[in-house]
Amino acid sequence: MNTISSEQATLLLAEAEKASENAYAPYSHFPVGAALLLNTGEIVSGANVENASFGLTLCAERSAVVKAITAGKKDFHAIAVWAKQRPFGAITPCGACRQVLAEFFEKDAPVVMTDPETGKLRILSVEALLPYGFEFSASVE
Ligand code: THU
Repeated sequence: MNTISSEQATLLLAEAEKASENAYAPYSHFPVGAALLLNTGEIVSGANVENASFGLTLCAERSAVVKAITAGKKDFHAIAVWAKQRPFGAITPCGACRQVLAEFFEKDAPVVMTDPETGKLRILSVEALLPYGFEFSASVE
C-alpha cells in the first residue's frame, strides 16, 4: 500500500470529522464526512447530502471526489471517512463509493477509517476494499 503516516492519517480524519458538520442528513441523522489528501498536500473535504427521494443521496466520499474533480484537482493520495456513531467497528465506504474511489485513486491508495469508540486507525487500500472492481474498456470495431 502507498504510505500515509499515522500523523497524516489522524489529521485527515480530523478534517473529515470537521466536514461532517456540513452534512445534510435530515432523514438518516447520520452525518458523514470525508477528506481527500492530494499529492500537493492540499485537502478537499465533503459530506453526505441526502434527498427526500432517498436514492438520490450523495455520500460524503463521492461529494469530496466531485468537489475536487470539478475544481480541476486530481492526483489524489488518500482519503479519510468519518462518522460519529456506529454500534460496531469503523464506518467504511459503501459499495458505490468504492467504485468511484477506484476510478480516481491508485489501487494502493490508503483509505483511512477509524472506530470512533476506540479511536483506533484502520487503513486499507482502495483495491483491498474493492477487489475486481469494474473497469471499462470500449471495444473498437
Ligand atoms: N453514507 C456516506 O456518506 N458514506 C458512506 O460510506 C456510507 C453512507 C451516508 C449516506 C446516507 O446519507 C447516510 O450515510 C446513511 O446511509
